Amino acid sequence: MPTLITGGNGFVGAHLQQVLPDAIVCDPYAPRFSPTPQHWIKQDYATLDAAWLQANQIRTVYHFASTTIHSSSVADPIADLNQNLIATVKLLETCVQADVQHITFLSSAGTVYGIPQAAPVYETHPTQPISPYGIVKLAIEKYLHYYHQQYGLTYTVLRAANPFGIWQNPQGGLGAIVTFLYKIAQSEPISIWGDGSVVRDYFAVQDLIRACTMATEQQQVGVYNIGSGMGRSLNDVLRVIQHQLALSTVDVTYLAGRGYDVPQLVPDITKIQSELGWLPQISFETAVQETWNWVQTLT
Ligand SMILES: NC(=O)c1ccc[n+]([C@@H]2O[C@H](COP(=O)([O-])OP(=O)(O)OC[C@H]3O[C@@H](n4cnc5c(N)ncnc54)[C@H](O)[C@@H]3O)[C@@H](O)[C@H]2O)c1
Repeated sequence: MPTLITGGNGFVGAHLQQVLPDAIVCDPYAPRFSPTPQHWIKQDYATLDAAWLQANQIRTVYHFASTTIHSSSVADPIADLNQNLIATVKLLETCVQADVQHITFLSSAGTVYGIPQAAPVYETHPTQPISPYGIVKLAIEKYLHYYHQQYGLTYTVLRAANPFGIWQNPQGGLGAIVTFLYKIAQSEPISIWGDGSVVRDYFAVQDLIRACTMATEQQQVGVYNIGSGMGRSLNDVLRVIQHQLALSTVDVTYLAGRGYDVPQLVPDITKIQSELGWLPQISFETAVQETWNWVQTLT
């Protein structure tokens, strides 16, 4: 089925291209680490028009484009709103005009819930994001629901935990594992915000991609957490890396914590398992090794 990937030259989009090489990538920027896509329009997705979507028979959209991470949304919430929320509503309007059937959107388990009141965190947990990034993700989820109710556009929201793997920018300020591995490869000290007790769920990006394609094939309407189902502190992550790379020491500097980092976030993944039939398949250690092999080629 003809498919569009917004933000397809980013980390996650590049992995989706590997399984959907015929998809059209819409991204104003060239890939930094991954291969150039076979079909690429160098454009802002908010400026796509319905005639173009219809001419290319686009029926499904993977909406992966984003211009912010938590810290940049805190620095400039208005830019986040304009570039991500308003732009997405423009895309949804265009999708409806062009009779697109389904859109799969990557939301963020780490930010939409805010500070968890329970562990693990189910999809029914209250949503009180504490960063503009999380507020925008949640607002997009609500607009997807609106466009489904109003116009019948089906959607899947995947609230991703912390995907990692090759082609993730090691200097982008996001992705603890690729950042740590890159610092080790460069023989530089690792900086950690806080005391290293922050817990997240790190999982292989290829497992996220499988969930994206399953959701789209099934045109499953709903909101799903996705991760490995297992939490690890940053200090635990460092221990695994040290053991796996057989390092005698790892040079770490602990910095003051950031107010918008929630202390612990491990999403429950039973809903996606039961409704989509998805299960994580790649072990943490396997994904760390693959990422390490790639990171070493950058130096
Ligand atoms: N990587 C993670 O840890 C993580 C976790 C949860 C959710 N997400 C979400 O998943 C999505 C993909 O994440 P990623 O890590 O691949 O991000 P990324 O920053 O690597 O890629 C985003 C891509 O979007 C493109 N883009 C920006 N503005 C655009 C526009 N107007 N039109 C078209 N393309 C545009 C960028 O050029 C970039 O290639 C994002 O929405 C992100 O918020 C990521």
